[in-house]
Amino acid sequence: MTTRTPLMAGNWKMNMDHLQAIHLINELALDLQDHKHDYATAEVVVLPPFTDIRSVQTVIDGDNLKIRYGAQDVSQHDLGAYTGEISTAMLSKLGCSYVTVGHSERREYHNESDALVNAKARKILAADMTPIICCGEGLDVRKAGNQVSHVLAQIEGAFANISQADAARCVVAYEPIWAIGTGEVATPGDAQEVCSAIRVKLAELYDQATADGMRILYGGSVKSSNVAELMQEADVDGALVGGASLQAEEFAKICRLGK
Ligand code: 13P
Repeated sequence: MTTRTPLMAGNWKMNMDHLQAIHLINELALDLQDHKHDYATAEVVVLPPFTDIRSVQTVIDGDNLKIRYGAQDVSQHDLGAYTGEISTAMLSKLGCSYVTVGHSERREYHNESDALVNAKARKILAADMTPIICCGEGLDVRKAGNQVSHVLAQIEGAFANISQADAARCVVAYEPIWAIGTGEVATPGDAQEVCSAIRVKLAELYDQATADGMRILYGGSVKSSNVAELMQEADVDGALVGGASLQAEEFAKICRLGK
């Protein structure tokens, strides 16, 4: 069981228009309230599509909800002629706390490299938001037994030229690609193996106290039925949840660690 405050982040991916987003966030808030959710049990974060963020902000601020929110990606550039891109300044102005970078879907469908993930993470930190730095291996790498070295190389790339003080503000999410959206959750032991190796690497790159303070999430087919056993592991500090975060009751239950 983690000694850090667990973080449960819902990555909505490309789902929910802004009206559906308003509905979902209201339902989530009601469910958390009905069950007297203690935010020390888990910090609750939603990561809607860009077009929903303003609406989510309005609901959260209007009702003073303790739910935090953020974005799924951001540009590595500050501003200017980058058609279709969204900057860290725009997200920060909307009150975003978190931004995911290097999600495997971005790496795969948009050819995002470790260097680009690093550039984006540094921009997010410079804008005083928290990057959730995603890493994870595909099935081929897992079958060859190379998951730890693969993920650690991604971590080294993502943290290049990030200072100790900035690293301390980062969150890492380990998401094995073969477990994303497949219903095939990693075993708690699989998750712990890689999450603990990530922490050892962070201690090497920085120091033990920094690594011990950082939160490392697991993602990939997390549900209310399997979150408790994952959270039993010492180095799993929360979850990055895809599909199950689109159902308010289910996600609220995940935030209660399955209870
Ligand atoms: P699922 O929970 O749908 O497997 O998605 C995981 C994920 O990719 C979260 O970022």
